[in-house]
Amino acid sequence: MTELEPHYAALPLEERVPIARQPVHAILDNIRSAFNVGSIFRTSDAGAVAHLHLCGMCAHPPHVKLEKTALGAFEYVPWTYHERTKDAVAAVRVQGVPVIAIEVTEDAIPLPDFAWPQPVAIMFGNEVTGIHPRNLARCDAIVRIPMHGYKNSINVATAYGIVLYHILQDWQGRTE
Ligand SMILES: C[S@@+](CC[C@H](N)C(=O)[O-])C[C@H]1O[C@@H](n2cnc3c(N)ncnc32)[C@H](O)[C@@H]1O
Repeated sequence: MTELEPHYAALPLEERVPIARQPVHAILDNIRSAFNVGSIFRTSDAGAVAHLHLCGMCAHPPHVKLEKTALGAFEYVPWTYHERTKDAVAAVRVQGVPVIAIEVTEDAIPLPDFAWPQPVAIMFGNEVTGIHPRNLARCDAIVRIPMHGYKNSINVATAYGIVLYHILQDWQGRTE
């Protein structure tokens, strides 16, 4: 915990200084574990993500397990629940935001090789089945995190942190 955290968290929502949000939108396609969604909320707060779209079976506040992992981060991160992932895609597209799937497929572009548009929406999938093929087809590109071990995928909340911070670093590098 940082020295700033207790002070900031103690302030009522309306008294908190608005922060400059990064033009990153995240779409979670049917993530099963409330703990993963909670962890993604915390990482989204850390990266000052513009908006989190929770779709289908994703837990959404109020939810006990989510609260345990998110530690209140859903109060700081703008979020919307959609029954259908396609509605989240439509909501970002209407703002002119391209949607990039983060998924392990044969034709996916390795993360370091992708030129990240700004703004961007990143889509993540279910822990077992990944992003549904119908939703994958709605995306403008597919990007994968290179895997150097024996397994071909990692925990979705871990994948989220890697990709989010890669994007922020990529954009920072381009403006320096
Ligand atoms: C555990 S994975 C889903 C299982 C995966 N389809 C498989 O066959 O192993 C859950 C989600 O995490 C993300 N993910 C995990 N590892 C990834 C990787 N190496 N590259 C891109 N996305 C990844 C994707 O969004 C994926 O839908």
